Amino acid sequence: MSEAEKKVQQTAEDENMIVCDNLVKIYKTQEIEVVALQGLDLTVKKGEMMAIIGNSGSGKSTLLNMLGGLDKPSAGALTVDGKNLLKYTDRDMIKYKRETVGFVWQNNARNLIPYLTAVENIELPMVISSKRKKRQRAMELLEQVGLAHRKNSKLHQLSGGEQQRIAIAIALANSPKLLLADEPTGAVDTKTAAHILELFRKLNRETGITIVIVTHDRMISKHVDRVVAIRDGRTSSEFLIRADYAKQLNEIDSLNRSEDNETHDEYAIMDRAGRLHIPREYLEKLGLSGKDKVKVEMEDGRIILSTPKLEEEEKE
Ligand SMILES: Nc1ncnc2c1ncn2[C@@H]1O[C@H](COP(=O)(O)OP(=O)(O)OP(=O)(O)O)[C@@H](O)[C@H]1O
Ligand SMILES: [Mg+2]
Repeated sequence: MSEAEKKVQQTAEDENMIVCDNLVKIYKTQEIEVVALQGLDLTVKKGEMMAIIGNSGSGKSTLLNMLGGLDKPSAGALTVDGKNLLKYTDRDMIKYKRETVGFVWQNNARNLIPYLTAVENIELPMVISSKRKKRQRAMELLEQVGLAHRKNSKLHQLSGGEQQRIAIAIALANSPKLLLADEPTGAVDTKTAAHILELFRKLNRETGITIVIVTHDRMISKHVDRVVAIRDGRTSSEFLIRADYAKQLNEIDSLNRSEDNETHDEYAIMDRAGRLHIPREYLEKLGLSGKDKVKVEMEDGRIILSTPKLEEEEKE
């Protein structure tokens, strides 16, 4: 490798928080083998806030668990913050889980200990030793998540949304560089979910923490920089969707739908070869069938697809 190439590689390493290269995860039980991830590629930049969507069983939690050091890949390479996770010893892994990465689960019981108060829950995972400093940091975190006034509340005294805010504060206790959240809004209503996502966004903007959220929520693109869809447990691979592109699609979509359409965005999915999967409805609206020619143009950084027929009409 030349000096120049080394420099380019080094810059990429410095910019990236996560690099998954051809990641494979196979769960083996006595009778069956489940291929949960089959050659997944994913790069997440430092400071990025992104979401992973996909059907049930597509491998989202599997991926997040590997990023969080809770499970190990069967093959492939996994780098977080410039370090190869596959080379970690058990001891390195404990340190990694405690200091580099924070985790928020959908299930509150997994995030919070019921007999401790909110502030005690936040102090529990802290690595700093001074009691006074722990309390100070815990109160800072409670402020950040907007719950300073609930510091003495226990799990059952808090609403689902409040419990998730405390869970986020706990995950942030040791100032991790990476925050992972598996369905953090799965158990709350739409409005509360939006508030929680806005909290993630605020933390991301204020502290520069990299955030990866796994969700079923198709409205997620409003809150993140980028959405990646994982598809099909057996053939999981990476599909990139730009949030702004999804938004544009949604805008077109909402023109054609009733006003109370608050529940989903339509995505187009692109595979690594650049093939685009266009929602059937759009094809039908343009009167295109699978074998028609479409015109592809590039304009102001956007790709425009049109039917040759529509173009002729415009010229007239
Ligand atoms: N410990 C395990 N042992 C065996 N198979 C597993 C294990 N964990 C997950 N799987 C399988 O791996 C595949 C991916 O599961 P995963 O939990 O990652 O999906 P997911 O995308 O998070 O789904 P959901 O949206 O329902 O949470 C599934 O087929 C699942 O049954
Ligand atoms: Mg899951």
